[in-house]
Amino acid sequence: MSKPLPLILDCDPGIDDFIAILMILAAPEKFNLLGITVSGGNVPLKYTTQNALKACELAGRPDVKVYAGCPSPMMRDLTCESVVHGETGLKGPALPMPTMKAQSQHAVDFLIETLMKADKKVTLATTGPLTNIAVAIVREPRILNNIDQIVTMGGSMLLGNITPAAEYNFYADPEAAHILLTSGKPLTLVGLDVTHQILTSPEWLSELKALENPVADTLVEMLKVHDYDVKTFGLAGAPLHDPAVIAYLLKPELFKGKFVNVEVDLSFNITRGRTTIDWYNKRHLEQNAHVLNEVDVKGFFDLTTDLLSSYGALSSSQKKERMS
Ligand code: BDR
Ligand code: CA
Repeated sequence: MSKPLPLILDCDPGIDDFIAILMILAAPEKFNLLGITVSGGNVPLKYTTQNALKACELAGRPDVKVYAGCPSPMMRDLTCESVVHGETGLKGPALPMPTMKAQSQHAVDFLIETLMKADKKVTLATTGPLTNIAVAIVREPRILNNIDQIVTMGGSMLLGNITPAAEYNFYADPEAAHILLTSGKPLTLVGLDVTHQILTSPEWLSELKALENPVADTLVEMLKVHDYDVKTFGLAGAPLHDPAVIAYLLKPELFKGKFVNVEVDLSFNITRGRTTIDWYNKRHLEQNAHVLNEVDVKGFFDLTTDLLSSYGALSSSQKKERMS
């Protein structure tokens, strides 16, 4: 059996980031999670940090190290998505306040220290605005030597979701996205072209419910009310953007894509954050990203259900409580 992959997750929970964390923690034999770094994003940093801690506690993993990072993007004001995820970022079930605390070290310092001393290259999974990673690269470019690959939820070949032109994570901090796109590191983009195919359904929520475990139960409660994309874009269910990053790391064969040139719009106008993805190599530029555009949807949901089933069944007293 191969050794667990050294991994850092940079995120901004957010409902779908929350699920991504639970997927990682469900696979300790696959991931050696060195830490979770958090930035402001979907909601302000105070809440994204709290939500990452809540995910770890729900998973029964108070040992996981969570680092709070940049509260806002490199050059822009923070744009939140409370309208999508709720005021505190986790609409739906009332989760207890976490008892575990974030580490005192800043996320950027943690990234630099960990990557500088890593004896094995580290994979970065990112599911939020890219501020923490970009600031770490600017402060200490030598960390690039110890990054194996970066798998990022961000970008879109077609329409945007935060504006007509741009996907949220790239819109929130386009300068940070530009730094990653020009870093020379292997970069996989899991954008809206893929994530808008991965939609929750009543059938899948019933499957989760049937797992009879507290983690799956919590997610069902959350996903039942996660209906912004259904109402706004007419999607058939809620897109599981950030979990797609974790699924790609575990089973890349579920996805198809192409190595192409990608540029992010750094303007301050309506196209801010838009990704120009040169699918047909019209510009003859460097292939700086692996852009995914196809996914085996059933395979994705089977994998996710399987991971979440590892959280164990409810005890008989929990079952009684659930029935009352
Ligand atoms: C991205 O924006 C956020 O709302 C989600 O958490 C995801 O990372 C999708 O555009
Ligand atoms: Ca996110």
